[in-house]
Amino acid sequence: MTEKLRFGIIGCGVIGRLHAEAITGLPDAQLVAVADSIPERAQELAEKYHVKPYSDFHEMLACEQLDVVDICTPSGQHGEEAIQVMRSGRHVIVEKPMDISRKAIEEMLRVQQEAGVKLAVISQHRFDPVTREVHDLVEEQAFGRLVLGNAVIPWWRSQAYYDSGAWRGTWELDGGGVLMNQSIHSIDLLQWLMGPVKSVFAYTDILVHRMETEDVGVAVLRFANGALGTISATTGAYPGASTRIEIYGDKGSAVIEDDQLSYLHLARDDREEVGPYGTGAGKRAQRTETADKSAAQDPAALAIRSHALQIADMMRAIREDGTPLLDGYAAKHPVEIILAIYESARTHQEVTLS
Ligand SMILES: NC(=O)c1ccc[n+]([C@@H]2O[C@H](COP(=O)([O-])OP(=O)(O)OC[C@H]3O[C@@H](n4cnc5c(N)ncnc54)[C@H](O)[C@@H]3O)[C@@H](O)[C@H]2O)c1
Repeated sequence: MTEKLRFGIIGCGVIGRLHAEAITGLPDAQLVAVADSIPERAQELAEKYHVKPYSDFHEMLACEQLDVVDICTPSGQHGEEAIQVMRSGRHVIVEKPMDISRKAIEEMLRVQQEAGVKLAVISQHRFDPVTREVHDLVEEQAFGRLVLGNAVIPWWRSQAYYDSGAWRGTWELDGGGVLMNQSIHSIDLLQWLMGPVKSVFAYTDILVHRMETEDVGVAVLRFANGALGTISATTGAYPGASTRIEIYGDKGSAVIEDDQLSYLHLARDDREEVGPYGTGAGKRAQRTETADKSAAQDPAALAIRSHALQIADMMRAIREDGTPLLDGYAAKHPVEIILAIYESARTHQEVTLS
């Protein structure tokens, strides 16, 4: 298949606009049409890229010749809409989270098999060069026995952000608060690097915003490999500080801070033995790139680079009849962890993942 793959987008809000930019920047992709239930949003995006606008995505599916459709609508709609797209015979890229319920996710996987199309779910930070480098080191067992893995997400979202869409911060359509919406990226990376989560115990609360779902949450994790870990997340930390993913093992440690490697020390690189008290500073990794404006402060400041890499990965999977790196089976894990965290916070019990 040498022709350009033809894309449509459903949802022309914050992230839909970024998908349009990412798709139009890829040489073998073509944006053909966009749909939003608010007609002016579809119109505005369509004018920018000289494509066809639709206010009803069903009509877009019926009228346009499309290979892939990107779903960029509120999270609680992802499953239902992805299913309609797949039943129409198109491949689908779904924004994170895959959906907010186990039932919807299982149905998406079932329909995907039935329709014989590809399904990818956005988790763009898996495509950050630094994340891949640390993942390669995990695969080489360079950290030795993994002991502790932490994700810290001290972000800020104003009340105006939550008021900017009726779906934000609701159980029905956001599926949760800071954990399901903002922290799913870091939770996905943590479990990708540390391995599957076996059980969680958690607290969540609403301390700063007027919203239904949590704006702060803390979870203690037990990984299947025996390591322990934590997740601490909030959208109430003004003005938003660095996101950190910390991986610690008995042969090395790594810290990813705002998508950059801020610390790496591996025993295998030591020229002399580290003493019995270890070393406080260790070897600092060079910062090779300037961080993109942090998503901790501004969701619209997300870099398109990693989105473009993930869309390109889906195109590779389509052309080779392979599997996208983030297929539905990979993407359901962070949602399952978050749902277990909510259950634990509700029941005050440790929750074991199946
Ligand atoms: N990967 C990331 O970094 C990232 C960043 C932001 C948002 N997201 C995800 O993207 C999704 C959308 O978030 P957002 O911030 O862009 O929201 P948004 O409210 O800015 O945009 C959603 C758009 O979908 C439209 N819409 C709703 N129902 C529709 C329907 N049935 N048909 C057509 N259009 C419809 C709305 O009118 C709106 O324009 C969420 O699931 C969110 O979690 C991902």
